[in-house]
Amino acid sequence: MSEVESRGLIALDRETSRRNFLKTAAWAGAALSAAGIGGFGVAVRQAQATHEGYVPLGDAGILQFAYQLELLEGNFYAIGADSGLFVDTFLDQIAVIRDHEFAHAEAIAATLGDLGAEVPAEPAFTFPEDATADAATFLGYAATLEPVGIGAYQSAAVALESKDILAAAISIHNAECQHRCAINIMNLVVPPNDVAFEEALPLAAVQDAVAPFGI
Ligand SMILES: [Fe+2]
Ligand SMILES: [Fe+2]
Repeated sequence: MSEVESRGLIALDRETSRRNFLKTAAWAGAALSAAGIGGFGVAVRQAQATHEGYVPLGDAGILQFAYQLELLEGNFYAIGADSGLFVDTFLDQIAVIRDHEFAHAEAIAATLGDLGAEVPAEPAFTFPEDATADAATFLGYAATLEPVGIGAYQSAAVALESKDILAAAISIHNAECQHRCAINIMNLVVPPNDVAFEEALPLAAVQDAVAPFGI
């Protein structure tokens, strides 16, 4: 097949994809209005029900806790990136998530500085002995860690007073959801994106989940 012919096929595929996308988008819009709003209501009620534990912390206290969670994630992915278990695109993805977590921690530290609040010392993290036993075990821990961060941000969002900090928290929350999807892809979860509405986690549940890691 000539290069032109093969380009033509690609163009045809694009047009077919575009039409299918338009059909799918129309269907998805109808489905969302029929069923999605109910799920959204549940998610909102859930976040409202789980945010109480975060309220007494105040914005600075929430950020101090989030800072430690981000350092936990960053250090965890740093161990994974250095473990030798991952190569090529898998290693790239683990390293990028590691960088995201440390970038989140840095941004939160800067905001704490702006608030005149203390940046907590880095906890002495403890990771499970088998964390880097093999790639599947490491990715299994990653798959349990990401939803903890997601649930924490989702609950804390309702408790935050500052809209600016809320906007920053949403941007991090979104990145954490993408981390979960990336980990799902590496874990061969099909389909990797299978959550329509995220789950909010009460503070106590988050604290219980991260306590074994030294927070
Ligand atoms: Fe993060
Ligand atoms: Fe993450």
